[in-house]
Amino acid sequence: MANPFYAHPKLSQLPTPFYVYDLAGLRGRVAKFKSSLPANAHIHFAMKSNNNLEILKALHECGLGVDLVSAGEMRRAHEAGFTPEEMIFSGVGKTADEISAALEMNIHQLNVESLPELERIADLAAQAKKQARVALRMNPDIEVDTHPYIRTGFHENKFGFDFSEIPNAVEILKTHANVLTLQGLTLHIGSQIRDLVAFRQAIRKTFKLWQQLNTQGFTLTSFDVGGGVGIDYLSADLAKDEELIAAYGKMIETEVPSIVNRIDFEPGRILIARFGALITEVQYVKRTPYKNFVIVDAGMNALMRPALYEAHHRILRIGGRTAAKSSDGRTQVFDIVGPICESADVLGYKRVMPSDIKAGDRLAILDVGAYGYVMSSQYNLREPLKEYILNGVTL
Ligand code: LLP
Repeated sequence: MANPFYAHPKLSQLPTPFYVYDLAGLRGRVAKFKSSLPANAHIHFAMKSNNNLEILKALHECGLGVDLVSAGEMRRAHEAGFTPEEMIFSGVGKTADEISAALEMNIHQLNVESLPELERIADLAAQAKKQARVALRMNPDIEVDTHPYIRTGFHENKFGFDFSEIPNAVEILKTHANVLTLQGLTLHIGSQIRDLVAFRQAIRKTFKLWQQLNTQGFTLTSFDVGGGVGIDYLSADLAKDEELIAAYGKMIETEVPSIVNRIDFEPGRILIARFGALITEVQYVKRTPYKNFVIVDAGMNALMRPALYEAHHRILRIGGRTAAKSSDGRTQVFDIVGPICESADVLGYKRVMPSDIKAGDRLAILDVGAYGYVMSSQYNLREPLKEYILNGVTL
């Protein structure tokens, strides 16, 4: 019987905690995503979700571009083999140095989020004698059903232009037409979204503006719909992800008219989340009169999502004969906690685990390929985590 990638025997001797990625799974997911989108789709992997060099190289081999948000990401993308033409630069706080570096490299597009940023880009492009290719990120003011910390398309968020600011943006663009080329509009309404209605509304609203701008002397060619497609963290069912991907592709096909030459996508989570696991070792099983704890060697330093967003990640015992179940089939409820000196250092609340769980057992924390390692820290001066790659699991 085939083991899941995170239980591969090759991993059993490696010191914990560590991240492991399943490259074959990732490649399959990318193929599925690509085939669900129209032929004029350009997929730019949001490398803030995972910036592992081998993963980036693999995604480049799959024909993807990259969406970046810092000079560091630009350097890493370059190292992974992405050409400037395959890069889009997003983010509300681009520094002058970052903009200059992007202009110097001639990257495909700067996604601009405010009037002062647009002015700064114009100045820096003039100094560098470069033509900056820009897209305006719109804030469509849509409430999305996701955690408030990862909602970005609502008017109270710091992201993107309000529609009322467009006349001012147009003025800047026209004044600096010798250094600014408006290629398109861009959106990103939030992350971990599984209801397509919000995407649909945002695209409709923004596409109207796209058309208006084309009647005001601009020649927009592209429409960037951002990322944000989520997964069901409670479920192991990859077929459900694929159903959502297919429905998302259909929605795009209906909502983005064919006069748009090129549709850009910036997915992160939907591509990589499922194909990463965090492997950790049980240090102590602590039973108190009030609660039972499994104390492991990975904490909020290794995976911040549960502490920061109360995110749920499935946690399974792996390895050995006792893998998922105890020998007598009995279970007990535990909080799975890390070693960090904070009460928020909980990886999973009220988890049903085999009752014979013991020190030395290994647990896999699942669906952490996106926003896992990249958000880890050395808090409490813990060692940086290691990352391992499996090319494919053939057991
Ligand atoms: N494009 C832009 C401009 C973004 O800001 C993001 C994510 C993406 C694309 C990719 O979104 P995705 O397809 O991965 O949802 N740390 C949080 C997620 C923060 C997302 C930030 N922006 C988490 O762990 O859930």
